[in-house]
Amino acid sequence: MASLSQLIAKPGTFSPRSPRTSSGLRPRRATVQRVWCASSRRERSEAADAPKHDRRDVLLGLGALGASATLMTARRAGADPIATPDISTCGPADLPPGANVLTCCPPPSNALPVDFAPPGAASSPLRTRPAAHSVTADYVAKFNAGIAAMKALPADDPRSFAAQASVHCAYCDGSYSPEGFPGVELQVHNSWLFFPFHRCYLYFFERILGSLIGDPSFAIPFWNWDAPDGMRMPAMYIDRSSQLFDPRRDGRHAPPKLIDLDYSGREPRFTDNQQIDHNLRVMYRQMVSLSPTPSLFFGSAYRAGDEPNQGPGPVENIPHGPVHIWCGDPNQPGREDMGNFYSSGNDPLFYAHHANIDRMWSVWKGLDARRHTDLTDPDWLGASFLFYDETPKLVRIRVRDVLDTGALRYRYQDVPLPWRAARPTVTAAATRRADSLLTPAAQAAGAKKAGKLPITLEEAASVAVKRPVAARRSKADKASREEVLVIDGIEVDRDVAAKFDVFVNAEDHAAVGSGGRELAGSFVNVPHRHGHGHGKKGRGIKTTLRLALNEQLEDLKAEGDESVEVTLVPRQGKGKVKVGSVRIELMH
Ligand code: C2O
Repeated sequence: MASLSQLIAKPGTFSPRSPRTSSGLRPRRATVQRVWCASSRRERSEAADAPKHDRRDVLLGLGALGASATLMTARRAGADPIATPDISTCGPADLPPGANVLTCCPPPSNALPVDFAPPGAASSPLRTRPAAHSVTADYVAKFNAGIAAMKALPADDPRSFAAQASVHCAYCDGSYSPEGFPGVELQVHNSWLFFPFHRCYLYFFERILGSLIGDPSFAIPFWNWDAPDGMRMPAMYIDRSSQLFDPRRDGRHAPPKLIDLDYSGREPRFTDNQQIDHNLRVMYRQMVSLSPTPSLFFGSAYRAGDEPNQGPGPVENIPHGPVHIWCGDPNQPGREDMGNFYSSGNDPLFYAHHANIDRMWSVWKGLDARRHTDLTDPDWLGASFLFYDETPKLVRIRVRDVLDTGALRYRYQDVPLPWRAARPTVTAAATRRADSLLTPAAQAAGAKKAGKLPITLEEAASVAVKRPVAARRSKADKASREEVLVIDGIEVDRDVAAKFDVFVNAEDHAAVGSGGRELAGSFVNVPHRHGHGHGKKGRGIKTTLRLALNEQLEDLKAEGDESVEVTLVPRQGKGKVKVGSVRIELMH
């Protein structure tokens, strides 16, 4: 298996930290990019330590990890769907020092939760959620009145803005344990619960708001950040006299500043046109290239008894995470409000951001009727959450209840998807074929270095990774099986803001154009806390990044190669992220 461990040290040096022997023994996790629930001051100093391009590359050895072919969705025997327990079990959240809330638990209920029943078309008008940048003054006035009414309610009313904001905190900062697993934290991020949980959350928020203004047809807006006209903070949210304004935001990012959907704490040096082009390519990459199948799109399986953070899907990674960080106030200790999960529900903009995330679920299903379907795993369909409705009574709602927005009586305004045509392009000068690396000397060096993983990412590091398929694959094979780059055993402290980029076959990663094809994807970690009261406090997270490769290998003309060169480039949190292993798997 010598060919599996080609490695090299290029001039430029690399001195790995002491290897961790536990790598590889932990359960597999999936994809990444997270916004954390809470954070410490350390995050702020990290934000300053943004991407200095370090052109020194280091090549690392790989063991015989490349050739395994596994099915990611294999059902584990004995597992069950995650269920939220009785809310009386809600415990203290793990909040950062200086947090501006004390508890995240919902007000108690005297009655047991009722099971969700879909509203009939007769009783519930179809609500059309509009693009936030395109609404009328009347709409803004109504929306303001609704938020004002929520804010006017006392915090112990579950319909109040404060109680609604804390719903998010409770499900993110460790206030619950899954039913039947009192020692384990319930976490709705970084797994396949991400899309359905937030859909339910917005659904009840919208019903409450509509009932408070006496208009059940009122629909909350979505922040259309995936199209050029929507790439600024929508005007209605930045009017200081408005209920939609939140002072805890990044002041540099008020309009006319364009959002960077790939934001990592550093201001990009783009013209507006470059930023738009970059954002569209980022959208294409996350929604198309990296999301060919349901298990990749939704994120990793997360079942009762599992540790949290099994691995988010591409959209949860990017743009979801960067949009949170871009909005949050860097002068607050935890980048509140949007930059931290515990506080993000306090910013009305959160609901518009998540409406667009929710819209991406619908849009994705519409992109490919054959392959883009909801998951069918019973542990996903049966997962359940508790919410108060507008009456207010406690409702248990399941993932299977929210697959069809029509059944929930809402839809999204139909707007163009300009990113569909923004397939990233190859930067010819920056690409190389992995084969060119595999000199005998390199192989020898690699064999010796194969044990050096895991690595702490202090600087750019490259790995030659064997592909599980020997030859060019047929069209039919590619349509049914995806080659997936699995970056496993990613460890980062929960309080550290971290981002690293993953390039494939980039001779010179610094020369890759913005949104270039050589960039396979990124890992993003936004600080949060979790597990308070569940014996998990103080632990870092361990997770996995999964990046679909079929389309990229096609574009890079690397489909005939035996291996690819993967370069990991730390952008934020240098020296604070460990990577356990890198391999390529085939998955359906
Ligand atoms: Cu529950 Cu955008 O976070």
